[in-house]
Amino acid sequence: MNVIHLSAECYPVAKVGGLGDVVGALPKYQQAAGVSAIVVLPYYDRKFVKENDFEVIFESNIVMGPFIGPFQVLRETTNKLGFPLHLIKIPGLLDRPEIYCYPDESEQFLAYQIAFLEWLKNFEVLPDVIHSHDHHAGLIPFLIYHSSRYKSLSQIATVLTIHNGQYQGWIGWEKLNLLPDIDVWEGKLLEWGDCINPLASAVKCCWKYTTVSPSYLEELSTNSNGLEKLFIAEAAKGVGIINGIDTDIWNPETDPMISANYTIETATEGKAANKKLICQEFFLEDDKPLVAFIGRLVGEKGADLLPEAITKLLLKYKNKVNILILGSGEKEIEEGLANLTSTFKENYNVFIGYHEALSHRIYAGADFLIMPSRVEPCGLNQLYSLRYGTVPIVRSTGGLKDTVVDITEENGYGIRFEEADVDSIVAAVSRAVEIYKNTTQMQLLRSRMMSLNYSWHQSAAQYINLYNNLKSL
Ligand code: ADP
Ligand code: GLC
Repeated sequence: MNVIHLSAECYPVAKVGGLGDVVGALPKYQQAAGVSAIVVLPYYDRKFVKENDFEVIFESNIVMGPFIGPFQVLRETTNKLGFPLHLIKIPGLLDRPEIYCYPDESEQFLAYQIAFLEWLKNFEVLPDVIHSHDHHAGLIPFLIYHSSRYKSLSQIATVLTIHNGQYQGWIGWEKLNLLPDIDVWEGKLLEWGDCINPLASAVKCCWKYTTVSPSYLEELSTNSNGLEKLFIAEAAKGVGIINGIDTDIWNPETDPMISANYTIETATEGKAANKKLICQEFFLEDDKPLVAFIGRLVGEKGADLLPEAITKLLLKYKNKVNILILGSGEKEIEEGLANLTSTFKENYNVFIGYHEALSHRIYAGADFLIMPSRVEPCGLNQLYSLRYGTVPIVRSTGGLKDTVVDITEENGYGIRFEEADVDSIVAAVSRAVEIYKNTTQMQLLRSRMMSLNYSWHQSAAQYINLYNNLKSL
């Protein structure tokens, strides 16, 4: 079985969120299970790319409407990631430092997909499956089944994984001429809501689509930023597979990014040592429960609720709880969170920005991790926090619902709440403050959480099973 993963992100080459984590790990676990899985990524002018060795294995040109230009395919030569990594480089479009937010993002990801197909046409042996992740690779199924230029590829099975249905990659119809030699009468397969919608097109044209948790699969038919009817119509093609975590990287016993390594047996002392250091770093006292938030500061994550919720909590529990935030995103939320430091400097701090190593130190040192997400297709933070013995406090939605069992239930280990609003956050953290007082219960929860197995092995096997079943479609 040969599979090619296409994605905008892949840790440690380029990561903004969980998409990077998944594409950096799933192929490695698939390789270990005997599947030949490779990753093809846009080229970024970033640290990993600068510091590692690549060879050019293919060169040609792409034609994208009026844009005609050369591209190269580079392969990483040392197999550092546990799977072959390939980068597509196009001067001016795919050679820049950032992953997202360029004004020509449509052209950027379209050029990536066209260059990939131009390269693929030259393969001696075609892959069995092309696995697209999110909308950035969403036009691949349409192009290989409905462009005369890629007819030779039309037998390849396509799978789409939806990590986040909120973002769909909308492109105006005036850019239709950028798509090479397409069957224009099939244009409806590109469309949703009066524009070219790469995510919707992928759902329509792929053989199977997956979502990163079973609950999110259900939610898409009632809440998917306009695609609800599409998901109802295509439901027979949908499968929910929960994400795993890369336990080589996320392992408190060996993690080089944390100061004190620990196991399930030494978690109490280990976490206390990490807590002491992170509290020192952020000028907090370590004798109070430490509640952390890590993530993108956007409405989807419920981050806009945090400034008011933190204010209420720190007024309610004067000097009895500490809160630490790591994140970046919408300016207004960043400012709202930064402004609180002067009012609550003894019990609150924030790091605005993206900091991978700091996130590890916080997972290791915090007692609780809060995720008040409005939408959470899977969520990896709660899985990392479980692995590091940090009690997750989550809103019951998507993957959070599928992975966190409330402590009031049998063998429960987390705190769940129903509504994404300020009062529910305050109530949930209040439960955490009470639980923290019971040292024995905290120890029991830690060992329960750390015994859970969310490694990729199981989920990678489910994807392989899905690929194998494609043959019979
Ligand atoms: P999403 O992909 O929607 O952002 P996930 O929970 O799937 O959410 O994954 C988020 C990933 O990004 C996790 O690995 C988390 O630790 C990381 N992360 C998010 N924000 C930051 C940040 N500011 N600094 C470091 N890591 C971050
Ligand atoms: C998305 C989702 C997140 C998920 C991640 C990886 O960014 O927002 O919930 O964990 O993708 O699949």
